[in-house]
Amino acid sequence: MAILFNQETQVFTLQTKNSAYQMKVADYGVLLHLYYGKRIDDCDLSYLIQRTDRGFCGNPYEMQTDRTFSLDYFPQEYSCFGIGDYRTDCVKIINANGSCAVDYRYHSYRIEEGKYSLQGLPAFYGDKTQGETLVIEMEDKNTGMKLELLYGILSEADMITRAARIINDSTETIHVMRAMSMCLDFPNDQLDWVHFYGKHTMEREFQRSRLIHGRQSICSERGTSSHQHNPFVILCDPMTSEDWGECYGFGLVYSGSFLAEAEVDQFHQPRLVMGISPEEFNWQLKPGEDFLTPEAVMVYSEEGFTGISHKFHYAITNHLLRGEWKDKRRPILINNWEATYFDFNRDKLLEIARAAKNVNIEMLVLDDGWFGKRDSDFSGLGDWIVNEKKLGGTLKALAEEINAMGLKFGLWFEPEMISEDSNLYREHPDWALRIPGRPGNVARSQFVLDFSRPEVVDGIQEMMFKILDEVNIEYVKWDFNRSISNYFSSGLPVERQGEIGYRYMLGLYRFLENLITRYPYILLEGCSGGGGRFDLGMLYYSPQIWCSDDTDAIERLKIQYGTSFAYPVSTVGSHVSASPNHQTRRRTPLETRGTVAMAGSFGYELDLSRMTEEEQEIIRHQVEEYKQNYELIHNGKYYRLSSPYEDCRATAWAFVSEDKKECLLCAVITKLQANPDAVIIKLKGLEPKRRYRISDKVYTGEALMYGGYLLPIPDEEYQSWRFYFRAEE
Ligand code: GLA
Repeated sequence: MAILFNQETQVFTLQTKNSAYQMKVADYGVLLHLYYGKRIDDCDLSYLIQRTDRGFCGNPYEMQTDRTFSLDYFPQEYSCFGIGDYRTDCVKIINANGSCAVDYRYHSYRIEEGKYSLQGLPAFYGDKTQGETLVIEMEDKNTGMKLELLYGILSEADMITRAARIINDSTETIHVMRAMSMCLDFPNDQLDWVHFYGKHTMEREFQRSRLIHGRQSICSERGTSSHQHNPFVILCDPMTSEDWGECYGFGLVYSGSFLAEAEVDQFHQPRLVMGISPEEFNWQLKPGEDFLTPEAVMVYSEEGFTGISHKFHYAITNHLLRGEWKDKRRPILINNWEATYFDFNRDKLLEIARAAKNVNIEMLVLDDGWFGKRDSDFSGLGDWIVNEKKLGGTLKALAEEINAMGLKFGLWFEPEMISEDSNLYREHPDWALRIPGRPGNVARSQFVLDFSRPEVVDGIQEMMFKILDEVNIEYVKWDFNRSISNYFSSGLPVERQGEIGYRYMLGLYRFLENLITRYPYILLEGCSGGGGRFDLGMLYYSPQIWCSDDTDAIERLKIQYGTSFAYPVSTVGSHVSASPNHQTRRRTPLETRGTVAMAGSFGYELDLSRMTEEEQEIIRHQVEEYKQNYELIHNGKYYRLSSPYEDCRATAWAFVSEDKKECLLCAVITKLQANPDAVIIKLKGLEPKRRYRISDKVYTGEALMYGGYLLPIPDEEYQSWRFYFRAEE
């Protein structure tokens, strides 16, 4: 673990186990970025920056006749808008006199033990044996505005984290229009970028393209990280593959609107900035106030995408997930949503619970429809009062009955929403985010509550906690089923309306923190119409997130493939549902639905009470198998073995235990052929000289990795297999 500062060269070198990051205090305190990549020791890489007079690249005034130093060409650590760097920037401030410029120069630094945390915001954590912090203090001499650049080192995880704090030490009120969490300049080079786009019921699709001249971005302006783009991107050498080549992974620890923007400048130099979306953002900062950005995290790998994924998985598991359920075995659940939708009563729920118990499932989750007037999605949100008529008694009694069967009980909430047809709306219409005089924009017939107002958060929290206090609820599914629009808060003055989006997130995070602190035993599962808020911010509170409302096993191959680039299997909520599937109408074998759902935090979401004896027997076996392989699946290394995007006949992945003694290979046939070609899957991560047994056959690790494993000829469409290999002693 090391943060080095060389007094003579004025170079900072940040080292993790395998990577290094370098910056330099250059002439007149301009902070230049020098390097990010494979680990190096203290040296001064500024010789790589070519000093020459370049046309239309201005120079800071202090340089006088020296035209070789330009902010528009030199790599910047945190580029400022308005002072001559025309590339995409990090910080844009409107000063009291109306000018729009800030010129942050280096002032001082301090090093702290342990990795910093961020008040009120999710962030990776690390104590002094795991992490270290560098704070660089910057200053704008003209206005007195200060800036702290925070760098966290998580050495073993090979992760560097970043955040920025803008401090108004001046005597006047200013407005922050843009405050990115990070900036990273690369020397002139070609880079590809990989990002994960999607829609409701098809999240995190893999896309790779060359960075081109100009700006290209992915973003969300929906108030959530969104189904449409995930706040995680990879930049890589165009030659980089799954296992080989240099690449960088970047994630934002934030669940609201965001921007990840890349620009290739006129000298072929790529820059990446990442942070909260500057759209809708305008933060008033009075003298003495400060503004803290969310955290961005970075890892470097020279082992291709697998290296990036393993580092992210390790860091998330060890430095982001918290609470009892981080390490405790998560229960296998049955959720009634796709079994009943809104149409259930007590008897139906008990029938499903009994059938679940019969196949050794461990928890029943009661989804939407148990409260207020909520027999459809047109009404009731906000009225968190149990509908005892529908449940044939109290929720407490229902939970007790389910507990008496030997099952845990879990419950769905959508705390951030309000239906127009609800008592809450009739009482507090101003609690909804709506612009006065405009009819607004409804989605799923609901409005979003104004969580930028503390009293709104407190009001919902009170209703929710009352239920959690009274009933033995051991799991909560926290849903969010629309995008935010029509920002207006009656709790904020005119000049602070641009703060709603960010204040909303602070309100949400406060609520979530209160929830997990008060009920540490509750397993919290995040959700937003499936995976519309699947991000590092939410994972700080909920160790698993419902991955997608698309439960079709074949579409899930792509969704879970894309998700796996950043997020570990343990975080992926994944259920076996009915066939034909409710979203696609596709028929798939029950075993295949099991194979796919087992690559996640496992459960079922179908009417078990209607299944045949034979199907129940298959499920009983799946449940047993998942329990047996839980450690391997949740804590083993995850390898993508073939891509569902390529025209190959099977999508395959594997889990390999840390000690490399166990391996579970999973493969799903996605295309049938007459007179079929052989499908050979090459395994990864095994010990080459070890011998691995599967039933009565034994293979060496090298045979399985370099030769591969031959899949049987499928008997039916979408057939799948789970091959379990164990090393011989
Ligand atoms: C969202 C969730 C589903 C279900 C419904 C209930 O769409 O993703 O799993 O909970 O809401 O309304």
